[in-house]
Amino acid sequence: MFDLRDLDRPIVGAPMAGGPSTPELAAAVTNAGGLGFLAAGYRTAEDLAGQLEQAQQLTNGPLGVNLFVPDDFRPAADELDAYRSSLAGVASELGVESGLPKADDDGWHAKLEAVLDLRPAAVSFTFGCPEGAVLRTFADAGILPIVTVTTAAEAELALARGARTLAVQGPDAGGHRGTLDQRDEPTTQKFEDTLAEIRAVSQVPLAVGGGVSGPDDVVRLLDRGADAVQIGTALLLADEAGTNPLHRAALTDFSSTSLTRAYTGRVARGLTNRFIRDHPDAPVGYPHLHHVTAPLRKAAVVQGNADVAHFWAGTGFASAQPGPAARIIERFSP
Ligand SMILES: Cc1cc2nc3c(=O)[nH]c(=O)nc-3n(C[C@H](O)[C@H](O)[C@H](O)COP(=O)(O)O)c2cc1C
Repeated sequence: MFDLRDLDRPIVGAPMAGGPSTPELAAAVTNAGGLGFLAAGYRTAEDLAGQLEQAQQLTNGPLGVNLFVPDDFRPAADELDAYRSSLAGVASELGVESGLPKADDDGWHAKLEAVLDLRPAAVSFTFGCPEGAVLRTFADAGILPIVTVTTAAEAELALARGARTLAVQGPDAGGHRGTLDQRDEPTTQKFEDTLAEIRAVSQVPLAVGGGVSGPDDVVRLLDRGADAVQIGTALLLADEAGTNPLHRAALTDFSSTSLTRAYTGRVARGLTNRFIRDHPDAPVGYPHLHHVTAPLRKAAVVQGNADVAHFWAGTGFASAQPGPAARIIERFSP
């Protein structure tokens, strides 16, 4: 089975759903000696399978696939209604209607099948920890099961269920926090303490990331027990990334990031724009809020409206540089 410690370079190209992760980016990261990832989130199982086949044609090295784990949390209907009403002004500004809140499982079972069929080197999970039987099925098929965690308690649960590697996500990371329970507020513990606790309870390899902005950060995390370092935001401007032009421009135009539930109901870190500032009290409710705001976000990208579009980014965003992914991986290598 694949092992992070066998990589030529101890760098994982983080899965980034919603466009940035492409077969070309995943393969380029792997061909540069790291571990490239595809992001299954928001796309169909067929789409994912097509992307994975394409990436597999572009590299003979290891690839990972990342899946969102569904949960059965049901937000209160009145909170969802109130939130949707609060978006009426911005919806009319964009000339669209906000979406209806709904639950969905992101095609969970079909995606599990697709990954088992196509056998990438690794599969990682975020937004929850699958049952032990799911993790075992992948391990038995020779596919390394990785679970994303943000605290030592989450790490212990994931290990008890059979995770063979952990993706440890720090508070500075761009995109959604991978807390296992979406109702949890992100831990305020210092990340070096969280990482030390997780290292102490884990016998398995760790891919650690969040806010990594250069090789010094990589060396520091390796010194603190990481077996590989995961970078996401640093790859957003890569030539091979599918990051949309508005998001690319925002990475140089904006000056700070914040944590917000405003776009999807799950805590995520993005560039601080008007939409985030205007909705500090958005309720818990993923994927319900994701569906409510989806038409607004889509229209905002088409209309070039940076006040409303979402721009996931980690705290190190100002160091992101354009160019081939291979050059970025080389720049981050210790
Ligand atoms: C645009 C974007 C999309 C992301 N999408 C996913 C995803 O689909 N699945 C996942 O596990 N993590 C996702 N993440 C989080 C990354 O896996 C990783 O934790 C994070 O990028 C590391 O922090 P950094 O961005 O500061 O390097 C995303 C991050 C960004 C910036």
